[in-house]
Parts: sequence; structure tokens; C-alpha cells
Amino acid sequence: MRQAGRVLPEYRAKKGKMSLLEVSARPELCAEITLQPLRRMPLDAAIIYADIMTPLVGVGVELDIVEAVGPVIAQPVRGAADVARLRPIEPEADVPYLLETLRLVRRELDPAKALIGFAGAPFTLASYLIEGRGSRNFLLTKAMMYEAPDVWHALMGRLADIVTEYLRAQAAAGADLLQLFDSWVGCLSPADFREYAAPYSARIFHALRDVGVPLIHFGTNTATFLDQMKDHGADVIGVDWRIALDDAWRIIGHDKAVQGNLDPAVLLGPWPVIEAHARDVLQRAAGRPGHIFNLGHGLHPSTDVQKVERLVEYVREDSERRAMSRES
Ligand code: CP3
Repeated sequence: MRQAGRVLPEYRAKKGKMSLLEVSARPELCAEITLQPLRRMPLDAAIIYADIMTPLVGVGVELDIVEAVGPVIAQPVRGAADVARLRPIEPEADVPYLLETLRLVRRELDPAKALIGFAGAPFTLASYLIEGRGSRNFLLTKAMMYEAPDVWHALMGRLADIVTEYLRAQAAAGADLLQLFDSWVGCLSPADFREYAAPYSARIFHALRDVGVPLIHFGTNTATFLDQMKDHGADVIGVDWRIALDDAWRIIGHDKAVQGNLDPAVLLGPWPVIEAHARDVLQRAAGRPGHIFNLGHGLHPSTDVQKVERLVEYVREDSERRAMSRES
């Protein structure tokens, strides 16, 4: 959940004046950037350097990733004709640079460490396509949902197919796990989530079952959806900080794994506050198998890297202590 390595000075140095999409076309550079956090900190996994918009670039959607703004779409999706233009993806032809990056990283990465492939979930991708950029209220997105449900469902269906093939290709190229980022779906009510968004994420997870790698479903503002998300076919459910980890896990069920859930803003505070919050997350996880310690959302750009390093060390020591006390 480093969204992004942008807090690392070595990332900024490698990226220079290039845009994220320019960097994306260079697999050696992307592979190096993917590995940068692991060269600094004893992390368990690397997440591939790409953006949630990468598959849409692959199928010809014109867009930019603007610094401090995020994705900006040249011609937002407004109706059925725009949806019809969204063609299926052929990953080897449409995003060859991404698959090459995965192969390069998997070759170089310590075999004991996992490589995470990812994609944006249909709702989050649809919201960027419709709004044209990030949004606070998602009013254009919701207007389409309510006003033109047939167009909405056609768009979500096409996105679900693109995401499925895109993730399948990442596993074939070396991803050990696949994560779906449903970042903005929390703007919906639980009933609208059930009707307008959940069927498409569920369709992706079920279609990927035969790939045989663990699947992570990440969302934010989804505390009131966890009772639904647990049944959508993912192995791990991401939890943000708006719900306590033990409460969330009880809803999700202890037969599933959870990821989370430190508020990334806590890292803007002094170390004793960070430590207290991290300890609370770990105590609520209570040493159960199946907790991936993580932030509830991405790092804020002004975060001091040294605090991140200290946090990783703290969590690492805690899990080693627990492993030792299990053995004795
Ligand atoms: O973090 C990493 O380096 C891993 C790769 C990664 C990026 N984007 C690269 C990136 C991942 C996992 C993402 C996911 C992503 N992108 C999400 C889902 C996760 C989440 O945060 O909810 C979303 C919603 C996006 C869309 C997006 N791209 C946003 C909102 C932004 C931030 C804009 C800003 O600067 O505040 C981006 C830009 C982006 N994507 C950066 C990186 C490294 C930072 C800008 C840059 O370096 O050019």
C-alpha cells in the first residue's frame, strides 16, 4: 500500500521529469522502481509499479496521470457510444511492457518474497472514466447509475472483462498474488453497492479462481460492506482504519485473511503515537494466522521515509517475537 513510492527520494531521482506513463513503457526502470522499497526495508512483498489506469491505456483510452491530481481522461465516458468504444484487452499486445516488468522483477526478487500484481476494480475505473478525474461526491457516476442503468451495467461488464484478462496475464507473467483496488466504492450505500458494483468484482474473483493465486479485495470506506465482500470470492479482505481490525475480522470471518489497517495519516505524527497505533492493530490481530499488516490506504506524499522504516522494523520484530513464543 505504498501508493506510492513517491515518498522515496530514490524513486523521484529515477523518475526525474518523466510522467508515470512514460516510465511505465520502460520495463527495466519499472522493475528497479518496484524493487526500491525492498532494498530499504525488510518487506514481505513488492507491488508492481503501474497505475490502475494502465489497462485502459492499453485499450486506447487517452489519459494522463497528473502529479498531485491523479488520472485525467481526455474524453470522459458519457453514453452508450463511449462504452461501445471500450474494446476487450489483449494483454500481450496491449500492455507488453507491464508483463515484461513482472517477468524482470520475479527473476530478480528473492524467491521468499511475493510479487503482487493488481488492477483497479470496475467501480473505481468507471468513476475515473465518467468523472474524467478524481471526485469528491461521484455525482456524474451516480447520475449514470440511476439515469441510465443499462449503460452503467454495460460499462461495468466491459471493465470486469478487461480487468479479468489483465489480472490473469499478470499471474502468468509471475505475479504471486493479485489485488483488486476498489478504492472509491465506499461512496455507495450498502444496497447500491450490492446492485451496481459488487456483482462485477465478484465476477472477476470467480473468473480468476482457476488461476490458483491468492486474491486480495481492497477497498476504503467499506466497513458497512464487509458482510457482503466476504462472499465475493477473494481470499483476503482489505480493511481501512474506520473500523477496528478485530471488529472487521469478526464480520469477515476468521476463515478469511485480512489486510490492514493503520491510518496512513498516523505516520505524520511522532513515533510514540505511531507505535501506539501499530501496537493496537497488532493486538487486535492477536497473532492469528492470516493478518497482513498494512496501511488502510496509501502513504501521504509528505510522509517521512524514516518513520515508515521504523514502522516496518517494529512490525517485523513483533511478528518474530510472536513466532518465538509460539515455538517455546
Ligand atoms: O505505489 C506504488 O508505487 C505501486 C504502484 C501503484 C501506483 N498507483 C503508481 C502511482 C499503485 C498500486 C497505484 C494504485 C492506484 N492509482 C489506485 C488504487 C489505490 C488507492 O490509492 O486507492 C488509485 C485510485 C490510483 C489513481 C491515482 N494515481 C491517484 C489517486 C494518484 C495520486 C495522485 C497524487 O499525486 O496525489 C496516482 C498517481 C500515482 N500512481 C503515483 C504513483 C507512483 C504518484 C505520482 C507519480 O509518481 O507520478
